[in-house]
Amino acid sequence: MSHSPGEGWSPVAGMRAAWLLEYDRDRYPFGRFLREAVFAVPDLETLHQSHWIRPGRSPGYADNLRLRERMQRLPLSCGFYAIYERFVRQLLVRHFGGRLSYAQRPKMRVHLAGTDSVSRWHRDAEVTGRLEQINLWLPVTDCFAGNTLWVEDDYGSGRHQPIAVRHGQALFFDGGLLSHGTVANHTACSRVSFDLRFAASSAPPTAMGSKLLGQRPPPCQGAGRA
Ligand SMILES: [Fe+2]
Repeated sequence: MSHSPGEGWSPVAGMRAAWLLEYDRDRYPFGRFLREAVFAVPDLETLHQSHWIRPGRSPGYADNLRLRERMQRLPLSCGFYAIYERFVRQLLVRHFGGRLSYAQRPKMRVHLAGTDSVSRWHRDAEVTGRLEQINLWLPVTDCFAGNTLWVEDDYGSGRHQPIAVRHGQALFFDGGLLSHGTVANHTACSRVSFDLRFAASSAPPTAMGSKLLGQRPPPCQGAGRA
């Protein structure tokens, strides 16, 4: 199967099981849809200064929730889900095989500039019990430092690092077992993103599937492989 121009993987430097996938923003215009059809703003990075926040008021956690809900309530019939289904069926299938189970609706997130952490440290498998899942985190704004996701650099290390992810990249990581979360967003840029977990059950696993889940410490390696 041919790959799109510019499409490609790169490992996140210094991280155990985290990779970035460059995708074609024109082919999968998540950002454009959310900016134009959902928020009607010229720029999502300045959402904290937009008409969604009352002038003179500092945005807070409630604003993150309110704006996130606006995305979360999008009907499955809207343009966002047409892009989402295309992304899954074309891109995820290409790299993780045709037997995928994935969330029908991803979790939508907003982390406005100037607001506190929106997610404390956690490992997804401690909540879900699903060791076979891979995390996909896709921002439609450029993310770095306080507005991005922080992920443990190795299994059990407790050292969380901010992952720089540009709009046009998707982060894949082993969020089942690598602790992750956010810190206060002291940057000048708001973040809009969505994330999902998926499980690939092709046998043998694809190269990317192995890279993401095949580096776990011995007691967990291969556990729960669907
Ligand atoms: Fe998580």
